[in-house]
Amino acid sequence: MASLDRSWVSHTIEQPPADEGDIGSVEQRTALVDFLEFYLLNYFKAGTGEQTPNLKDGREVFEQAGCATCHIPKLRIQRDRRVADVETVFDADNGNFNRLFATARTLLANPSSVGQAGVSKIPAFQPFDVENIYTDFKRHDLGPNFHERNYDGTVRTQSSRFRCGV
Ligand code: HEC
Repeated sequence: MASLDRSWVSHTIEQPPADEGDIGSVEQRTALVDFLEFYLLNYFKAGTGEQTPNLKDGREVFEQAGCATCHIPKLRIQRDRRVADVETVFDADNGNFNRLFATARTLLANPSSVGQAGVSKIPAFQPFDVENIYTDFKRHDLGPNFHERNYDGTVRTQSSRFRCGV
């Protein structure tokens, strides 16, 4: 069997440069974090599929069984910092992907800024109801099956995770 020639490795793989000048100044890096935050803040919320009778029955059972006392379906935000909202719903006529159709609308204090380069989009900061979030963002003791052991051996009785959706 011919021996493998490894000499190409030392020719093709170079050491990383000593300084990382290509990631920009502190101001530029801060701007990147701002862009990321903006993206995550304005990211589309989950859509809702077809509202069948079966689904509606399920929701009723969910309420009646007391699940919705912790998995609260609707969360009110008093001061919405987003600049736009996207609503995705079942629409057999217009939805050509999974029969879902999305409608975007702006949430701006200065709607005239749309389409104008260099003019900041200022959020309207209005209250907003987040539908179907199914959480209260609180910790609960759900009994021993949900207790978690900490690294130091002690036991955590309050569920450490909140749940979005069910
Ligand atoms: C006392 C508050 C409380 C009630 C009442 C409650 N839950 Fe939960 N539920 C939680 C918490 C807290 C978690 C997260 C547990 C964990 O994983 O740490 C959870 C998790 C879940 C999950 C997993 C969700 C996921 O994203 O992994 C499902 C499903 C669920 N609950 C369904 C139900 C149903 C169905 C009912 C009613 C029969 C119900 N819950 C009632 C607090 C509650």
